[in-house]
Amino acid sequence: MKLLNIANGPRNASAVVLGCMRMPRLSVDAAAEMLRTAVDEGVNFFDHATCYGNGEAETRFGDAFKLAGLRREDVYIQSKCGLHFDRQEFDWSRDDIITSAEESLVRLKTEYLDVLLLHRPDLLYEPEQVAEAFETLHVQGKVRYFGVSNVSPGQLELLGKYVKQPLVINQLQFSLDQAQLIDTGLYVNNLTTEHSVDRDNGLIDYCRLKDITIQAWSPLQAGMFQGCFVDDPGYPELNKALGEVAEKYFVSKTAIAIAWILRHPARMQAIAGTMNPSHLKDICAGSDIVLTHQEWYKLYLASGRKLP
Ligand SMILES: NC(=O)c1ccc[n+]([C@@H]2O[C@H](COP(=O)([O-])OP(=O)(O)OC[C@H]3O[C@@H](n4cnc5c(N)ncnc54)[C@H](OP(=O)(O)O)[C@@H]3O)[C@@H](O)[C@H]2O)c1
Repeated sequence: MKLLNIANGPRNASAVVLGCMRMPRLSVDAAAEMLRTAVDEGVNFFDHATCYGNGEAETRFGDAFKLAGLRREDVYIQSKCGLHFDRQEFDWSRDDIITSAEESLVRLKTEYLDVLLLHRPDLLYEPEQVAEAFETLHVQGKVRYFGVSNVSPGQLELLGKYVKQPLVINQLQFSLDQAQLIDTGLYVNNLTTEHSVDRDNGLIDYCRLKDITIQAWSPLQAGMFQGCFVDDPGYPELNKALGEVAEKYFVSKTAIAIAWILRHPARMQAIAGTMNPSHLKDICAGSDIVLTHQEWYKLYLASGRKLP
């Protein structure tokens, strides 16, 4: 497993993160098996959110982690707060951040979170309140590092003006199918394709400039949540290219789709959401593959982009 140091954050973090959004569908026994497989494969980083299964994902993880006999100090546990589908609002107020983080600790059965992310922007956020919440959680030893998810450069700048702790992570959608994070960079100023539309104000370059590690969520999903594009007959060219590269490295197509993300020089982590141990092994194999420059482009173009 490839390890990376998150600038100003966790050291030797696995490049593949296990995303636990779908963990509520597993029994505690099956979740424990999933966690043991993850750790055996070198995964030491786990992603949560208060909203996953309305807290069920964190509860299942807390129970399964104990059953699996894993040691807290050997892993990084990250959670996210601020998304309230149940209340139909996003909330970055001081009290909500603190309460959410404290409730996560109880469900996860841990004394501290390694990382706490703000899940999605609250349009009414007051950065002073975020700063107060982060400071309280940090001083109390409840959260070690902080970051965000789905947040733009301007929002990061504004937060950074008030928050004392460095914002070390931005979790963003990125995959061979959903590559808008990088598309704009290729089609700069081009009127002939909508790939040139800058949807995030140069977010990838901003994160690299500011030493913010990008975590790629849904690395294998088509669209928002339309299912895995690997082996999907709706993606013939992409699957053909994935298959050809996979054959060269003696791994699965899934591994190559992950290797494609990890090959980007922004040095991202990929958050895999599978709850199938065998799929996770395929994914982890991708972290040991370093694609050539040309292979990377071949896959990118097979995903439906054209060189301008
Ligand atoms: N920050 C955000 O806004 C945000 C949004 C969404 C997700 N996330 C995070 O990202 C994580 C991953 O999201 P995701 O679950 O959508 O991502 P994903 O890893 O791209 O997709 C996983 C899905 O693909 C399926 N799948 C089918 N064939 C597969 C194969 N050969 N290999 C691997 N998976 C295969 C999995 O089913 P099986 O279980 O059967 O393998 C699972 O349903 C989440 O758990 C969460 O932590 C964050």
